[in-house]
Parts: sequence; C-alpha cells; structure tokens
Amino acid sequence: FDTRNIEAFRPVYHFTPAYGWMNDPNGMVYKDGEYHLFYQHNPYGSMWGNMNWGHAVSKDLVNWEHLPVAIAPDALGSIFSGSCVVDKDNTAGFGAGALVAFYTSAGDRQVQSMAYSLDNGRTFIKYARNPILTSTIRDFRDPKVFWHEPSRKWVMILAAGQEMRIYSSSDLKEWAMESRFGDGQGAHGGVWECPDLIELPIEGTELKKWVLICNINPGGPFGGSATQYFVGNFDGKKFINESPNVNKWMDWGKDHYATVTWSNALEGRHIALAWMSNWQYANDVPTKQYRSANSVPRDLSLYTYKGGTYLKSTPSPELLKLRGEQIKKRSFKVDRTYNVDKLMTDNSGAYEIEMTIKNKNAEIIGFQLFNSKGEEVDVTYNLVEKSFSIDRTKSGITSFSKEFPAVTTAPLRNDKEMTLRLFVDKSSIEAFGDGGRFVMTNLIFPSEPYNRISFYAKGGSYNVTSFTTYKLGLK
Ligand code: FRU
Repeated sequence: FDTRNIEAFRPVYHFTPAYGWMNDPNGMVYKDGEYHLFYQHNPYGSMWGNMNWGHAVSKDLVNWEHLPVAIAPDALGSIFSGSCVVDKDNTAGFGAGALVAFYTSAGDRQVQSMAYSLDNGRTFIKYARNPILTSTIRDFRDPKVFWHEPSRKWVMILAAGQEMRIYSSSDLKEWAMESRFGDGQGAHGGVWECPDLIELPIEGTELKKWVLICNINPGGPFGGSATQYFVGNFDGKKFINESPNVNKWMDWGKDHYATVTWSNALEGRHIALAWMSNWQYANDVPTKQYRSANSVPRDLSLYTYKGGTYLKSTPSPELLKLRGEQIKKRSFKVDRTYNVDKLMTDNSGAYEIEMTIKNKNAEIIGFQLFNSKGEEVDVTYNLVEKSFSIDRTKSGITSFSKEFPAVTTAPLRNDKEMTLRLFVDKSSIEAFGDGGRFVMTNLIFPSEPYNRISFYAKGGSYNVTSFTTYKLGLK
C-alpha cells in the first residue's frame, strides 16, 4: 500500500513522515543532486517524545523518498534540532565532502554534539569527543552552522533562553563565543528556538542584507508558535539589527514554526521549510498514523517597503510541476456576490487557486471556500484597515483544542491589484499574497474538500481579472 495516504487528512504534496510523530525540519542540506531533509521524529508513536532525526531525500523538493532514521538517541540524550554542512575542504578531518551534522543532545542538560557521514547521509558516525559545546543554561539548543566566506570561518548560531549566541570555529570542533543577540529586540513572549542566519538579495537592487530567523514559542502574534526575523548586518562575529523597534513576522498564520533554510543550495537559492503546526495543539490534531506535515518549500528574498526591509517567501518553482488539470475562469465583476459552484470535477482536496483581484472601490473583498457540510474558510481583504485575514473557526473539525479556532491577520501593503496563490492540501491552506510579500499558513480539518467559492463585496465593487484552479499531485 501507499503509506502516504491512508488517513483522510494526510497531505498529498506536503512532506509527512511515513508513520509516527514529526516536528522541526532539521539539517536540510543539498549535496550531489539530493535535497536532504532530516526532522524531529518519534518513530514509536504519533506524539512528541523519543526524539530521533528522521530522514528523507528528494531530487526536486516535492517527491520524497523515506530513508531509515539517521541519528538515534545515545547516552548523552535524545537528538534535538540542528543543521548540516558539507565540509568540502575537510576542515574537520573527517574526509573531504563529509556531511557534518550538528544537533542538541538533550539529556539532563542540553549540549551540542556532532556526527558525520561519508555516504551522503545514509549512515552517521557520532564524533567520539561529543559534546562539543556545553552550558548550564536550561534552554540551549538548535545549532545552525554555516560557512562565512569573508572571515573564512564556520559560524554557529544557537538559541539560549530568549537570546541567540554566535560562535566561530575553523575546524567545526572547537567553538569560541563571539556575541549574543536578543536583549530588547523583537518579541519575547516565549523561548527562542531554531535560529538561522542567511544573507539575502534585496529585489530590484544589487544589495544584500543578513536575516536572522528566530522561531519563538509561545509569543506568536496569534498565540503559541511563530517565526520572527530581524534584518541587518553580520560581520562574521556580530549581528546588528537595523530596525530594533519593529517586530517582523515571516508568516501570519498559526501553523508556521521551526523554519530554517537549506544549506549549500544551488544558484544562491535560500529555500525555507517550516513545520506546519503549533505547540498549542500539535499533539492533539485529528490524525493518528502520523502527526504533522511541513510547509511547501519557499524561496526567500528581501523587498523594501516604506524604508523597511522585509522577507518575501515565494512558493519554490518546483511546485509548478505539481500542476495537473486546470480550470480557468473568465474575468468577472463582484458588486454583491459571485459563486464558483465547482472548483473542479474530481476534487480530492489537493489544489492551488491562483487569482488576481483589481479593486474598484470596495471596502471589503471576501470569499468563502466551502463544502456541502457547510464547513468553510473565510478569506477577507479589508481595504479600510489594510489587512488580509483567514478565518478557520468554521473550517471543519476544530474542537480538539480551544486554541485551534482562530482568525489570523496580515498587513496588506498593496491594495490596488492583489495577487493570491492558495495552496490547499487536505488539511492545510497556505496563502501567498502579493508575490509572497505576505504569507499565511493555517491547518484546517474539513470533513470533505471545499469545492465551492463564493465571492462577495462590501462598500463597492471589484473585478477578479484572473482565476485558475489547478489540481495538484505527484507524478
Ligand atoms: C522546536 C523545538 C526545538 C527542539 C525540538 C525538540 O519546536 O522545541 O527547540 O530542539 O523542538 O523536539
């Protein structure tokens, strides 16, 4: 049987573990034509516990092959989140081109360990002198390691309580602390976890800036887990946030956490993946055989708006390969309501809707995606408050947690012509607005796929100038 698709809510084109529990994506690295995805995995059940690094590989970021557990617990503890690098120049002495993994050994204390693989991640050998970094801080974890070319050093960024610590090394084994970041910066409603530090181009310029990705739990804008980020400069030792008084969120939904990027990706790409859940209810969502999926992969860049610099997340171009049968509608006007009665003939709940909306003078532009059971997701552009929101309070099964029913809202920075790509996959909806200048990721558990859309306008009218539904699937 196809292990991927027994349960009704199991996504088609999002990565899920074949069985058992998954949380954070870990150690993503591209090497020799393969994208590696490791992940926080409980191989013995579908609730959090017994953390191992699960493993899967892909040639195209959408078709994944499950591999056996890559790193299993040992006397130092279970295997928490971390990262991988390709040690091209053999700085560690494990062999040129070794895949070196960094993770947190979570036992009585949280300490950092490493393991290496000489066969493209199929087997890992733990470093004999682990741990490589210890501390008395209780929350001390999730090392992200990368090569910093200007200083010709390895850099590690690590979460420590509610701050990030930056270390450097020339051999991946001995680490020296360089700086700390966090005091007085950004949101502090919870622990900082799963950092990343990447240099990204600013669209329309030759400039680049550094982005520090900081996952925080709890303390997200809609409760529980979320991803904040800081934009600034990094010299190999210290990160300087250029706008300390602004809070920046990478995604405006409730189910986008533990986001980190692929190392060593080709053509300067920075591809991010999030764990599509929230610690408020991750263990309670209505699936059994497995729990949790990742987001679709997203290519990151930067854009500027009113003097600020912000992250832009575009669905990775590989996702276009998923498109099958399409239904295109002619442009239509909405001054009261307009219904699209059938999104597709054979709707199995895995599709993309791409649309462009040109506003004339409406104050509210809204639509509901709904099914024959009366379950619906409401999407609203509020042109008065300049916001975009998704309401999942009536989306289907919601009662497993009081934190699940929610309305999530993003700032709307472009209100004349709005483009939107909605990715639906059985139990999730990811909205990419304005070419990825805002993103919203939310879980949903409808008892049957939504197959109708009903548009409405308030205070004026608008035109939907393009509207296409694509069936999405693996080929
Ligand atoms: C984030 C996190 C990490 C930790 C891992 C444990 O979701 O709490 O900080 O390493 O999960 O599974």
